[in-house]
Amino acid sequence: MSKLSIRGSEPLKGSVRIHGAKNASLPIMAAALLTEGTSVLSRVPRLTDVRTLTLILEALGMRTERIASDTLQLRVLNQKNCTCPHELAIEMRASVCVLGPLLARRGRAEVPLPGGCVIGERPIDLHLKGLRALGADIQQKNGYVFAKAKRLKGTRIYMGGPRGSTVLGTANVMTAATLADGITTIEHAACEPEIQDLANYLNGCGALIKGAGTNTVTIEGVKRLEGTLHRVIPDRIEAGTFACAAAATGGDVLLEGARPDHMSALIDVMQNMGVKFEIDDSGIRVACNKGLRAADFTALPYPGLPTDMQPQLMAVLNCAVGTSVVTDSVYPERFTHVGELHRLGADIIRQGPQAVIRGPGSLTGAPVTARDLRGGAALIIAGLAAEGDTIVSGMDHVDRGYERMENRLRGIGAQVKREGGAPFEVGQLQLPFRRAAS
Ligand code: EPZ
Repeated sequence: MSKLSIRGSEPLKGSVRIHGAKNASLPIMAAALLTEGTSVLSRVPRLTDVRTLTLILEALGMRTERIASDTLQLRVLNQKNCTCPHELAIEMRASVCVLGPLLARRGRAEVPLPGGCVIGERPIDLHLKGLRALGADIQQKNGYVFAKAKRLKGTRIYMGGPRGSTVLGTANVMTAATLADGITTIEHAACEPEIQDLANYLNGCGALIKGAGTNTVTIEGVKRLEGTLHRVIPDRIEAGTFACAAAATGGDVLLEGARPDHMSALIDVMQNMGVKFEIDDSGIRVACNKGLRAADFTALPYPGLPTDMQPQLMAVLNCAVGTSVVTDSVYPERFTHVGELHRLGADIIRQGPQAVIRGPGSLTGAPVTARDLRGGAALIIAGLAAEGDTIVSGMDHVDRGYERMENRLRGIGAQVKREGGAPFEVGQLQLPFRRAAS
């Protein structure tokens, strides 16, 4: 298992360029299945999730080519195969994004129930409810979703669930509706910037989508879509992760290209903790030259504080003076990182859907194991703040969502070393396949 060794407690200083958003790139790549002609997507990060999805798309008849380090060219060559390979689909959650486009353009889809981070219940009932509302016949059997539809028909769909909106559920229904007959209105749609970016890509291909980024999205179906050029938005979660690393180490880091308008809730919570932010055209400068204060927060659907920032912020709160209460209303079980933070000396108590953090903890280096993507990022942040050496195992989880994290951290002064190989090293073309989390 690939590891990262960290020598902690140095303040991080310098600037780091923020890459394209994983959670925008993936649904946009899947949406290219809807189009004729070629799409060129720039600012697509080199992540194992992106690599896995290119393999899935190629199995579905698309040619994918990385024509520059951050640019992917996509073109559908044939539409014969509509079955998503099981061993690839279970590697990540975003494999479910091919369901809507396949159904809309080819009239059928066979997609395994997706894999992804083990952060709690991850049903797809709302995805299926939305596609059925558009007229699809959906059956679930042997771990697969079998979907077929002669012609999808626009309708009004309420997509809210017990924990609010669904990001990829909104993506699936929005993409399917672009080629449906008539008008579709999605109520309680997800408002995430990644959904807005997906809508911008689709409108660039000739779709007629209005209201993306609000809770009500309308899509007027069209006959066909043509590939287009699109630049993916910067990754607000990657930017937030580096902001947390700067805060936890008392550093001063410029997040080049980060979009503050996508990060308001996070900036607000971190300012309450005493972190300083300076915003200009080049990005966001994050500085923390004095002690941090405790803060309470609840992870919520956008524009609330992102659940994907909950583990990283928890790592920072261990360095803050006082008691903080963290609640995750999106994934109430998203606390696998707590046990590993305890190994570094963190004083955290789980209480149902909450965690209580008593700081400042005197964190000392230890061997720890990443069990999911953002939990792994939290362990790296805590290791950077700890006295002594930390070894983070399970870096293949982190590689799913952060491109060469070790190189970027070294670029801002961190003393880190990668052991056991990293993906996309020259000559290493194979995915680091592992049994995915169920
Ligand atoms: C996306 O997952 C992100 N992944 C997740 O990021 C992120 O945590 C999540 O949105 C919430 O922001 C990608 O975009 C690839 P949801 P998604 O459907 O769409 C419940 C990361 O670290 N729900 O918005 O799968 C669900 O259980 C990953 O980058 C249903 O009940 O999440 C959850 O409680 C982790 N029924 C809530 O809704 C459904 O059909 C939000 O889930 C679907 C979801």
